[in-house]
Amino acid sequence: MSLLKLEQATIKFGGLVAVNSVSFELEKGDLFGLIGPNGAGKTTCFNIITGVYAPTSGKINFDGRDITGTPSNKIAQQGICRTFQNIRLFHSLSSLENVVVGGFLRHKTVLGSALCYLPSAIKETDELKAKAMELLELVDLADVANTRSRDLPYGKQRRLEIARALATQPKLLLLDEPAAGMNPQEKMELLQMVKKIRDVLGVTVLLIEHDMKFVMNLCERILVLDHGEEIAQGPPAEIRSNPKVIAAYLGEAV
Ligand SMILES: Nc1ncnc2c1ncn2[C@@H]1O[C@H](COP(=O)(O)OP(=O)(O)OP(=O)(O)O)[C@@H](O)[C@H]1O
Ligand SMILES: [Mg+2]
Repeated sequence: MSLLKLEQATIKFGGLVAVNSVSFELEKGDLFGLIGPNGAGKTTCFNIITGVYAPTSGKINFDGRDITGTPSNKIAQQGICRTFQNIRLFHSLSSLENVVVGGFLRHKTVLGSALCYLPSAIKETDELKAKAMELLELVDLADVANTRSRDLPYGKQRRLEIARALATQPKLLLLDEPAAGMNPQEKMELLQMVKKIRDVLGVTVLLIEHDMKFVMNLCERILVLDHGEEIAQGPPAEIRSNPKVIAAYLGEAV
C-alpha cells in the first residue's frame, strides 16, 4: 500500500489551472523529487497535500485514509509536515525552543497544562526538550541550541526548519526548495542530512528543488511539472535524457 497517493489532483484559481490532473504515488521510505519551471505548480501541490487548499477535483490518500479537503492542522497530526520556500521560524526563540514548539503539536496536552504548572506537563516538556536536542544533533545544530534563530546563518536556519518539522514525528516530510541560497558545501551537507532522515528515522521525503545536481543525486524518482501538468515521471537517468523535460525545463542535458 502506498503512503501517499494523488489521483488526478486539480486546483483552479479563477481561470488558472495551477495543478492539472496530477497523479503520483509514494511508497514508504521513498525519496521523491518534484521539479519544473517557476510557476509550474510545485508549491501548490504541497499546499493541496497539506490542506492549505482543498483540490477543486481529484483525490488525495495518505496512509490508508482519504485526506482530500482535510484541514491542515488535522493533516499535520496524521503525519505530514513541511518546510516552506521562504523560511518561517520564530526569530526571537532559540534553536532549541523552535524545535520544542514543533513537538507541541504531538503532545497537545502540554501547552494548556504547562501554563498551570502541572507536574505531568513539566515532565513532558523536559522530554520534549531532550527529544528536540536529539533532533538538533541529527541536523548538526547542537552547538547553537541556545542561539536565537535570527542570529543563525541562512544555511543553518534552513536545517533548523527541518528539525522543527521532524519534531512533529511525521511519516512524510515535504521540503520546498531546501537547498535554495546554500553554497555548494552546505548543499552537500544537506544532501547527506536528508538521506540520514530517511535512513535513520525512516521518514519518507518529497522535495521540490531547482538545483538539478542535488535532485538527481538525492532522489530515486522524479516528477516533472510544467504549467500544472505532468510531463514526465521516472528515475533521474530517464528524466535527464527526456526530450520533453529538456525542452521545457533543463534547456540542455545535465
Ligand atoms: N492562492 C493563489 N491564488 C492565485 N493563484 C495562485 C495561488 N497560489 C498559486 N497560484 C498560481 O499558481 C501557479 C503555480 O504556482 P506555484 O507557487 O505552485 O509554482 P511553483 O512551481 O512552486 O513555482 P516556483 O518554482 O517559482 O516556486 C502560479 O501561476 C501562481 O501564480
Ligand atoms: Mg514554489
